[in-house]
Parts: sequence; C-alpha cells; structure tokens
Amino acid sequence: MAGDLFNTIAGVYGWFHRYQMRRFSAILERHGHEVPLSPMRTVCDVGCGTGALCAVLHLRGLQVTGVDPAHRMLDVAREKVPDVSFIMGDAVTGLPFDDNSFDLVFTSYVAHGMPQHQRMQLYQELMRIAAQAVIVHDYNEKRAILTTIIEFLERGDYFGFIKKREQEMLQIFPSVKIIPVGRQACWYLCHCNLRHENAQETEDEGNTIEEKELGNPIH
Ligand SMILES: C[S@@+](CC[C@H](N)C(=O)[O-])C[C@H]1O[C@@H](n2cnc3c(N)ncnc32)[C@H](O)[C@@H]1O
Repeated sequence: MAGDLFNTIAGVYGWFHRYQMRRFSAILERHGHEVPLSPMRTVCDVGCGTGALCAVLHLRGLQVTGVDPAHRMLDVAREKVPDVSFIMGDAVTGLPFDDNSFDLVFTSYVAHGMPQHQRMQLYQELMRIAAQAVIVHDYNEKRAILTTIIEFLERGDYFGFIKKREQEMLQIFPSVKIIPVGRQACWYLCHCNLRHENAQETEDEGNTIEEKELGNPIH
C-alpha cells in the first residue's frame, strides 16, 4: 500500500519540515510569477507528506487543503501546520473531491515514486480536481548519485519517470510548461484547459490588457 513506507519514515521526514519550508518558499518567491492564472484562492497539495508546502502556501494567503494516504505523515502535518486542513486520500484510487474543486493543484515528489500506470491515474485525478492548472514538482533528467541510490532503494519508477516525464504528462494535459526550479527539479506546469494556456501565451507576449484580466501570480 502507498502509505506503508511513508508511515514508517514520517517521524524522520518531519525533522526536515523547516528546511523544506525554506526551500519551497524560495522557489515560490523566484517562480510564482510564472503561474499567471486568473484569481486563485484554493490550492490542494496531493501527497502533501508532512505539510511543508501547505504551510508555505497558507502563509501566502491561499486556502489550502493537504491530502495524503499515509496517516502518520498526516499526524505530523496536523501538528506542524494546525491552520491547514489535512485529509486522508489516495490519488490512484480516487480523491474525495468534486471535479474542479481547486483553482490550483500541486503534487511534489509523488509522481516519480509510482509505477507508470499509477502515475497516469494520478495525473488524470489531478486534472479532474483542478479548475485551472496542476503543478507537478519533481525531478528533471539530471541524475545525481545519491538520488539514484535512494530512488533505487525506494523501488519507485524514478528511472521511467525521468525518461518520459513530459511525454506522459502530455497524454493527459493539453499543455505542459517546464520551469526549472533547482539543480535536479522542475515545475511541470500543466494547464487543464486551453483558455489558460492561451492566457499564458498572451502573458509571454506582454499583452497588458489580457494580463489585467487574467494575470494574478501566486506570490
Ligand atoms: C516523497 S513524499 C513527498 C512529500 C511532500 N510532497 C514533499 O514534497 O516533501 C511522497 C508522498 O506521496 C504520498 N503518496 C504516495 N502515494 C500516493 C497516492 N497514491 N496518492 C497521494 N499521495 C501519495 C506519500 O504518502 C508521501 O507522503
């Protein structure tokens, strides 16, 4: 079951909560402007772990929901981030949310840990609950020796993920924009419908009228 490994390591994972918050915060500071969608209020973090990203998004004034199948990860998250709502749920078997429930859906370091068929179900489920966009925060193609060892031991599909990331996402989402956010990490910004993809293109072209109507970066 998805939660077993993460139930076991939840306590240790929690030790890195502050470090993770600093890292997520710096990334949002640097790249938040690259997500110029119409006014965003609600965000869901799928596979939220101990809630570090939820904490940072909450501090930015967003209404945040964290969801994870590992109850011990959720226990740590609730203790560390009492103002955010954390719910148990599994993105492969189906999340307890209606279609288009959230303006934006994040998933951080979840996709690479799944076998390919589950990853496709994950993407499908993320697209279903997101009204505007999904951000898959995960590895890029650059392999470091420590990551290779850890991911080999974790027995996920890291190697399959890094080989076919964009190609797989494009089977589900109408468009994917790759935003490098670290030495080994990217945001895969997946628009859920073409209206927002077009808004992004307009933004890139510098059309200030459209910007006013549609632009509202998450920072
Ligand atoms: C490597 S941790 C990442 C945690 C957090 N997002 C972060 O960036 O630190 C992967 C998380 O994905 C969760 N996860 C695994 N399978 C899942 C699934 N089917 N649906 C939702 N979350 C899942 C795990 O329980 C774990 O908390």
